[in-house]
Amino acid sequence: MANEETLKLIAESTKVAPPDSYRSASYLQSEAAYVEKYRASIEDPEGFWREIADELTWQHRENVIVTGDLPDFQFFPGSQINVAENCVDRHANHPLSRNKVALFFEGENGERRSVTYLQLQREVSKFANVLQSLGLQKGDVVSVYMQNLIETYVVLLACFRLGVIYNTVFAGFSAEALRERIVSSKAKAVICANGSYRRGKVLRLKEIVDEALECENDVEHVIVYRRVPELETPMTADRDHDYDTLMASASAECPVVPLDANDPGLLIFTSGTSGKPKGIVHAGGGFLIGTYAYTKYQLDLRPEDVYWNTADIGWLTSHIFVLVGGLALGTTTILYEGAIDYPHQGRLYEVMERYQVNKIFSAPTAFRMMLKYGLELAQKYDLSSLSLLVSVGEPLNPEAWQWMRKALGRGDVVINNTWGQTETGGTPLASIPGATAMKAGSCGVPFFGHQLEVVDNEGKPVPDGTPGYLIIRNPFPSLARDIFGDHDRYLRSYFAQVPGAYFTGDSAVRDTDGQFWVLGRVDDVINVSGHRISTMEMESSLINHPAVVEAAVVGQPDEVKGAVPVAFITLDKTFTANEELATELKQKIVSDIGSFARPERIHFVEAMPKTRSGKIIRRMLREIIQNGEVRGDVTGLEDSDILEKLLLDVTGQGNLV
Ligand code: PRX
Repeated sequence: MANEETLKLIAESTKVAPPDSYRSASYLQSEAAYVEKYRASIEDPEGFWREIADELTWQHRENVIVTGDLPDFQFFPGSQINVAENCVDRHANHPLSRNKVALFFEGENGERRSVTYLQLQREVSKFANVLQSLGLQKGDVVSVYMQNLIETYVVLLACFRLGVIYNTVFAGFSAEALRERIVSSKAKAVICANGSYRRGKVLRLKEIVDEALECENDVEHVIVYRRVPELETPMTADRDHDYDTLMASASAECPVVPLDANDPGLLIFTSGTSGKPKGIVHAGGGFLIGTYAYTKYQLDLRPEDVYWNTADIGWLTSHIFVLVGGLALGTTTILYEGAIDYPHQGRLYEVMERYQVNKIFSAPTAFRMMLKYGLELAQKYDLSSLSLLVSVGEPLNPEAWQWMRKALGRGDVVINNTWGQTETGGTPLASIPGATAMKAGSCGVPFFGHQLEVVDNEGKPVPDGTPGYLIIRNPFPSLARDIFGDHDRYLRSYFAQVPGAYFTGDSAVRDTDGQFWVLGRVDDVINVSGHRISTMEMESSLINHPAVVEAAVVGQPDEVKGAVPVAFITLDKTFTANEELATELKQKIVSDIGSFARPERIHFVEAMPKTRSGKIIRRMLREIIQNGEVRGDVTGLEDSDILEKLLLDVTGQGNLV
C-alpha cells in the first residue's frame, strides 16, 4: 500500500502553524477550538448539523435531524429546502448583497463579463420558466454538456429551482461517453454550448451531442447556447432550441419549488471498479447542507472574499465549492473557461492579479505545472492578496506544497490539501485554516460530524502510522444516496466491505498527530491530472478492437499529472504490433472515453502475468513499469517464466510505442 519512503516521510513530518495574520480573522482561531468543536460534533452530530441548518433558509422545517444509519439514512426528512433559493435568492433579496458580483467570467479568448446576485436571480428564474415551458418538472433528468460559463450556472441553478435532476457531463468527454450517460440517466433534455474554447481551438460541442444522440434515447429537447456565435451550428427541427431565443420571451419571475431535503438533486457519473461508470445520486438538500459546512470551515469562505476555483463544471469539485457551497456563502467567484496556461504560461497569475484573488483552489497537477514554469514567472505578478491555497483530487507532494507556499504565498499563506470523492459530495478531510496546523503532504483532519478510521482487512482500526483502508463510520448529509438505477451496486460498492461503514476505496495512514495521509486507490481506478479513470473502462474499450485479445491498463507515476495510463496488449495472431496500431488503439480510447484518458504508451506483449485462476495480476505490470522488475511475491503466478519474457517485451527495443 505504501512504500517505506512514504511512511518515513509521514513519521518525520512536522506541524506548521497557520500565520498569525490569518488566524486572527478566521472562523476558528486555534487547534483547541477545532478539537473541542470536533469532539462535540461526534458526541452530538445532530447538534452540529442543526447549527448548520439554522444558517440556511428553509421553506418548512421539522424537528427531526437524522433518521436511520448507513447505508439507509435521511437528513431532515420531511423538511423542505431549495438549493437555488439558498444560493441565489437569499443574496438577491438582501439589500447588502443584491448588487454584489456573484461571478466574474473570464473566457480563454479574453472575454470578460460578470453577473450580480440580482441578475443571476432573474436569469435563473427565466431559465426555470423555459424548462417548465418545455414540460420539464421535478424528478426529470437533463444532461448538461457545457464548459465553465455563466449560462452553465444559470442552467444548473434553474434545475435546482424546480427539482429537475441535472447530470453534468464533462465537455471533454467523447460522443460515446456522453451517449452512455444520456441513455443510462434517461435524460429528457440535453443542454449544451455550441462550442468551447480550449487552447485556442474551438471544440464543436453541439456536433458531439448530435453524434451522441444517434441512438435510441428519451431526449425530447436540445437547448443550445451559442457560445461561439460565428460557429455554424446544425439544428434539428422540432428538437433543438436556441437558448437566447427561449430566454428572450421568458418571465423573470419563477417561484421556487418546495423539495424534501432528501429528494435527488443531481447526478454525476464517475469511474468505479467495473467498466461501466456509476451514476452517483446526491440529495439536493443534503448536498447543500454538507457543501455549505465544508466551504464555510475548510475554505473559511466569506462574502468579502474574491475566490477562484479553477475546476471545470464537469467535475463535482465545482458543484461542492462554487456552484452550491460558494454561492450559498454569498462570495464572489471567478469563473474561467479554458486552459489556465493559455495563451501564455502566466495566465493563471494574470487573472489572479487582475481580480486580486485572495483564495485559490485548484488541483495538485495544476500547481505542479506552475512549479515547472518556475519561480521567476510567479514573481512577475502581484499575488500579494493571496491568503489561502486549496487543492483536491490527488496527493499533494511535499515539494509542490513547499513551492506553493514560497512562490505563490511568500511563505505566509495557508495551504489546505483536502480529500474528498464524488461520492462524499465534499471533503471529509482537510485543514481548518487558521485553526489546525498544516503538514506538507497531509490531508489534514476529519471534518465535524465525520468519524474517519483507518482499518485492516477485518475492519479493525490499525495503529497510528500504519497504512490501512480509509472508512467513514457514520452518515453525513452530502454522502451519495444511491447509484442511479442500481441500488444493489451502491450497497456492494460502498457498504459490503466493512459492515455498517462507508468504504472509500482509498488507503491511508493516520499519523501520531491525528492527521490523515491518503495514499491512493486500493482498486483499479487511477487518477490522471485529478481525473478519475477506471482502468477497467479503458480495458473494455481496448478489448472491443478486433486486434486485441487481452488488455490491462495500469497507472505509472508522473511528475506533473500524478499518474498516466499505460496499456499492455496481447494481439490476435493475424495482427502485427506496430506504431500505427498503437496510435489506432490510443485513438479508440480517446473516442470512447475522452482525450484525457489517452494512454501514454502501449506495450504489445506476448502474454500477461496471471494467477492460476486466470486473472491478470496488474500489480506485477505496475511494478515492471515503475521499477523495471517485480520485487513483490511471485508465487501466485500460473507460469513463472512469463516475467522474464514480459520484462524483455517491455524493456526490449521495438515494442515500446
Ligand atoms: O483516491 C482519492 C483521490 O481522488 C479520489 C476521488 O476522485 P473524485 O471522485 O474525482 O474526486 C472528486 C473530489 C471531490 C479519491 O478516492 N483523492 C482526492 N483527494 C485527494 C486524493 N488522494 C490523495 N490526496 C488527496 N487530497
